[in-house]
Amino acid sequence: MGEHTPVLLDEVLAGLAVRPGGRYCDATFGRGGHTAAILGALGPAGRVVAIDRDPQAIAAGRRRFEGDPRLTLVRGSFGELEQRVRAAGLDGELDGVLLDLGVSSPQFDEARRGFSFMQDGPLDMRMDNEAGQSAAQWLARAAEREIADVLRTLGEERFARRIARAVVAARAQAPITRTGQLAEVVAAAVPTREPGKHPATRTFQAIRIHVNGELEQLESALPQAARLLTPGGRLCVISFHSLEDRIVKRFIRREEQGDPVYAGLPQVPAHARPRLRRVGSAIRAGDAEVRSNPRARSAVLRVAERLAA
Ligand SMILES: C[S@@+](CC[C@H](N)C(=O)[O-])C[C@H]1O[C@@H](n2cnc3c(N)ncnc32)[C@H](O)[C@@H]1O
Repeated sequence: MGEHTPVLLDEVLAGLAVRPGGRYCDATFGRGGHTAAILGALGPAGRVVAIDRDPQAIAAGRRRFEGDPRLTLVRGSFGELEQRVRAAGLDGELDGVLLDLGVSSPQFDEARRGFSFMQDGPLDMRMDNEAGQSAAQWLARAAEREIADVLRTLGEERFARRIARAVVAARAQAPITRTGQLAEVVAAAVPTREPGKHPATRTFQAIRIHVNGELEQLESALPQAARLLTPGGRLCVISFHSLEDRIVKRFIRREEQGDPVYAGLPQVPAHARPRLRRVGSAIRAGDAEVRSNPRARSAVLRVAERLAA
């Protein structure tokens, strides 16, 4: 409990090309696995700003890294990356930004955080469990059609409509406030079984992504990260499902091409020039890492470098 094994650690360090005196932002601190490795590669003049929206992650980080003056821990969302980095005293000019998306093991493993269909707990699912609406609050109010849309688009759930109908029928009997309750409603509504996969897996993923606005946060963070980087600075993003990875891949492609409105014209204004260059292709965990850390199975790391303006 309380532990999180960082994925693709060596690959992230290589991707960030950490320099001893460099300035880095770990925008998804979690339990600090990547931050610790970056600090390990930094000299006394290096700096790290680490951000997490989960109050428990920040509290655990303060205990773990107390007394290291190179690290500034910030509670907040990476959707407000520029603001958070500047408020921490790093006025742009970063040498690297890391986003290791999704939930941490402590969030998933603690039943009271409400992310898991394997253990019964309050149906919460908020990464920042002190703000916004919980999964239970959203499910209590959302229209059947909205629930179906979320399950289909964010969970790629074939039985989205059936599940939404079952949820609406169940909540008319009694509010759905526990993860176990929701898992049962979904399991009863799904007519088939995918081998090795709980029938509520896709539903829980979809609701989690929705309640935390995960895709919107990512869309908002990527251009901010590109702006914060100094020429030669690196962006590393680890995603865990195809919806996230598609956003990252398309973003890097767009930034490599620059604004198509100016394509072929002799004069391209600075804001319309390519801002990033892709570094290598997508990186996945090797067999040994997947064997020792099953979370690594779906991890995909993409790296890009900031070009001179
Ligand atoms: C996969 S974990 C990161 C683990 C970390 N790299 C480590 O080695 O311990 C993702 C973390 O990002 C945080 N997070 C997710 N979305 C966020 C957002 N929009 N803003 C800030 N933190 C976010 C989660 O709360 C979680 O702690």
